[in-house]
Amino acid sequence: MGIKQKLVFGYRRIKGIVKFGSRGYSLRDAPSVRGKVYVNRFGQLVIGKRFSMAGRPWPCQLTVEDGAKLEFGSNVFINAGCGIAATKSIIIGNDVRIGPRTSIMDSDYHRLDADTDYGDLAKPIRIGNNVWIGTRCTILAGVTIGDGAVIAAGSTVIKDVPPNTVVGGSPAKIIRSLNIPDGWVRG
Ligand SMILES: CC(C)(COP(=O)(O)OP(=O)(O)OC[C@H]1O[C@@H](n2cnc3c(N)ncnc32)[C@H](O)[C@@H]1OP(=O)(O)O)[C@@H](O)C(=O)NCCC(=O)NCCS
Repeated sequence: MGIKQKLVFGYRRIKGIVKFGSRGYSLRDAPSVRGKVYVNRFGQLVIGKRFSMAGRPWPCQLTVEDGAKLEFGSNVFINAGCGIAATKSIIIGNDVRIGPRTSIMDSDYHRLDADTDYGDLAKPIRIGNNVWIGTRCTILAGVTIGDGAVIAAGSTVIKDVPPNTVVGGSPAKIIRSLNIPDGWVRG
């Protein structure tokens, strides 16, 4: 993708109100998008440096509802076919890898029954630094994923994941802990 297209992504598709990183933002740090990404932005969308997203062979979708916040740290890669929907708050750290066809949503969207309060459906999601989420995972409302964690392919994460652990399955359970020295970043 050329520089011109990157600017088109930044200022037309996201309609100019997205905030790209902080001070010292250069073209080298500009977002890189291949293929199609649909952005429904009514709230706050913050994209860190060296953000990269694959929108083919399956498009990605980012949704930020009115009053909500979706924030990406620096050096985040999102593979094709992912959907991320923030109705309240989704904060994603630095050096995060998200595998194809993964879904991250901070609301259940639909009430279970008449006793469920609609306002309680949205719970913030926080994904730490250096996290790798495998292909076809689902991350549900209210979950915090600790720094360095790995979510195995096909997992459904319904509760918090401790730092530096691998979790897997549906619902995801701890598989093992990882050796992640200070400053080590997964490639
Ligand atoms: C998690 C993963 C990295 C393997 O980690 P590992 O520690 O080497 O795991 P192992 O293969 O030794 O398996 C350890 C245990 O975890 C289980 N396990 C492994 N992958 C699993 C998965 N995706 N879901 C559920 N359980 C899984 C194994 O069954 C095994 O369980 P057991 O001890 O009861 O037999 C790998 O299975 C995986 O999911 N990779 C993701 C690949 C991907 O999606 N890439 C996308 C590119 S961005």
